Amino acid sequence: MNKIIYLDAAATAQKPDCVIDAEMDFLRNSYANAGRGICARAVAVDDMVARARGRVAEFINANPNQVVFTSGATDGLNRVVNILSWQMGYSTMSNFTVSDIDHHSARLPWQELMYLGKIRKMFMCELDENLDINPNSVPKTDFLVITAMSNVLGRAQDVAAIIATARRKNPNVVTIVDASQYVVHEKIDVKKWDCDFLVFSGHKIGADTGVGILYIRDSETLFPDKFGGGMVLHVGDIDVARKASYGAYIYENEPSASIVLNHAPEKWEAGTLPLTQIAGLGPAIDYLEKNRPNLYLIKHAYDELSQIPRIKILTGRDAAMLSFVVDGMHPLDVGAMIGANNICVRAGNMCASWIHMRLGIPGSIRISVGPWNTIDDINKTIDVIKKIVK
Ligand SMILES: Cc1ncc(COP(=O)(O)O)c(C=O)c1O
Repeated sequence: MNKIIYLDAAATAQKPDCVIDAEMDFLRNSYANAGRGICARAVAVDDMVARARGRVAEFINANPNQVVFTSGATDGLNRVVNILSWQMGYSTMSNFTVSDIDHHSARLPWQELMYLGKIRKMFMCELDENLDINPNSVPKTDFLVITAMSNVLGRAQDVAAIIATARRKNPNVVTIVDASQYVVHEKIDVKKWDCDFLVFSGHKIGADTGVGILYIRDSETLFPDKFGGGMVLHVGDIDVARKASYGAYIYENEPSASIVLNHAPEKWEAGTLPLTQIAGLGPAIDYLEKNRPNLYLIKHAYDELSQIPRIKILTGRDAAMLSFVVDGMHPLDVGAMIGANNICVRAGNMCASWIHMRLGIPGSIRISVGPWNTIDDINKTIDVIKKIVK
């Protein structure tokens, strides 16, 4: 069988050896649960989790107690909606703002709340001629969801300017940044951006599936959205008199004030964490910082593919990925034909329906690169595409 050419980094990254080695080492030699044991091995797992958290904090310029482990970006984006619901009660949620470059995971949790009647209005940020969010178009809003880089268009958004406008119009706006694609290519600075929440997935930066990051600026003061083991310092018993009148074990309507929460970040992490995946996170970040995807490969693909008349490229030459359509062919057909040549690209709506609707197309084909790709991979792919569309 021919070697696979993997050009789908934006869906998920291949794993560097350092990540695989760290996970294997943890599974073989250091396995235990975190936050629960007092034996040396359990304490070592706590240290490993704390080191990983510290590395993530440094990576995005946060404090470790603002870094919460989730199962991925989608989990984080859904949790933010639940967290805010806990704080405010749905009745005070009047409007939210999104944009057409959003991934389904960023907008759907909010849209579903609206369909349930728990939030009244959805506003849109306008996109400029490059399909970038126009910072001046941000309306006065209560909740603002910002996709820092679209997974179709691959352009870094001016997150700081977008948030600054939103805060000028409403100092109490809550801002949520989806950095799932941005984090692969650019340095994140949550303090500079001044965001309230930020999410990304481990698997797109070379770590494993099943772990993600949720940055919560006010992690000490906000009330958690999940309850269970590890997030409480103390669970109070109901008092004896009430016990007698209710019957021994009926806890109906027992106020939650009887629990004392742990400090952040533990209060956000009910249940057992994805420890093996966390063991691979620090090495993944170390590797990514030294081996960001070589975007010269995308420029080269752009220069070649833009000469083919039937191909319409949706992305700029300096984008972090290349998305295109072929005149007279469905994107899924093109993707399948490329795939039949052992070349993995992404085709379809890429969970980003709104940008495709806006462009009036059912989907597109996307080439995205990681540190494992070479110019030879791109040249072979261009040859295959030329044969398909000739
Ligand atoms: C921009 C963006 N947001 C959110 C997600 C969701 O990530 P996950 O499926 O890892 O939760 C993706 C994944 O493709 C993405 O590209």
